[in-house]
Amino acid sequence: MWKAVVTAAVAFVLLFCRSSTLDNGLARTPPMGWLAWERFRCNVDCVDDPYNCISEELFMQMADRLAEDGWKELGYNYLNIDDCWMSMDRDEQGNLYANKTRFPNGIKKLADYVHSKGLKLGIYLDFGTHTCGGYPGSIKYLQKDAETIAGWGIDMLKMDGCYANVSDMSWGYPDMEMYMNKTGRPILFSCSWPAYAGGIKVNYTAIADHCNMWRNYGDIQDSWDSVTNIIDWYGNNQDILVPAAGPGNWNDPDMLIVGDYSLSYEESKAQMAMWAILAAPLFMSNDLRSISPEARSILMNKEVIRISQDSLGMQGRRVIKGTNKVETWIRQVQAKDTFAVAFLNRREDGMPYNHTLTLGSLNFTSSMGYEVVDVYDNRRYGHFKLDTKLTVSIDPNGVVFVYAYPSK
Ligand code: GLA
Repeated sequence: MWKAVVTAAVAFVLLFCRSSTLDNGLARTPPMGWLAWERFRCNVDCVDDPYNCISEELFMQMADRLAEDGWKELGYNYLNIDDCWMSMDRDEQGNLYANKTRFPNGIKKLADYVHSKGLKLGIYLDFGTHTCGGYPGSIKYLQKDAETIAGWGIDMLKMDGCYANVSDMSWGYPDMEMYMNKTGRPILFSCSWPAYAGGIKVNYTAIADHCNMWRNYGDIQDSWDSVTNIIDWYGNNQDILVPAAGPGNWNDPDMLIVGDYSLSYEESKAQMAMWAILAAPLFMSNDLRSISPEARSILMNKEVIRISQDSLGMQGRRVIKGTNKVETWIRQVQAKDTFAVAFLNRREDGMPYNHTLTLGSLNFTSSMGYEVVDVYDNRRYGHFKLDTKLTVSIDPNGVVFVYAYPSK
């Protein structure tokens, strides 16, 4: 009798307890797409700046570019709205709705359009009382908002954490995930929870139970300083961050700014290579209507994308910080004993730097040695035994990105 009561009680708890685990099956590899924020911000001035303001027109144009210019085929399939899409108030029933001047046809129509192009639509909410831009927050409306976005056909949610207590996030983000699950629509969940909770003082196992990806750190800005500041933070905290990542769950160092105003060609290659090493989500924030051929070729490099999307899903590490200001970052990939290696030049002394090493010094172990190939241009460096010297020439603020696989 007691046994039956206990079994029933356990079954009840299992069935109705609030905590669930993320089972949406999404983001088995780092998600890819385009996100409005870094490049288009909260530009709501469609009178003086109609071409660049946050409006359905902007997202339809970006959807066209993603679908027609070859991005989608490479995996860039999420088109994501960020802040400043909403009306300043909810409707009489408490529902969110888009600003009627800038999104005259509403989000559902936009989602239909995006889906008709074979893409997915992401949207932005904030867990707190307001979004970071001052639009309505979701804290009292989690279930309603989950149902609203699912009803519109949304495929991904970035939930920000402005104007919220960090202590509320440990129930709030899981609740949002539960409400989204209840709608029956798989919605990739990008949480800003760790970024607001200090990035490292958080329980990543709990976060990974509820979020497919999460911002850990500050916003990327359009500068090399910002990119390197983020890279340093991920390197300095890798012992906490790397174990948290894997299929279904990714650390998010924020958007790719390749194609924007600040990065040189070498810096752009470096950001892309580093985001691939970090197993980072690849969300471009740039103007796909006018992107340069150089930026496009970097973002579209199939070998870099192949490393980013490697099915082992293991985030890379900074293994050598380098007294010569050359950092060595390594990501292990699925193929046996095979590694992607980025040599990142943090020097500013104005000429390419010859960096010499042996693969043995990187703790590679294949006794047959390795074949080393440049990831960006497929150039073969050759065959290297563990103690053979390899010299790479790296431009200032640049990267040499290679792939090393065991020789037969
Ligand atoms: C925060 C986020 C950014 C962006 C803005 C929008 O700063 O970190 O990525 O979403 O809010 O206001």
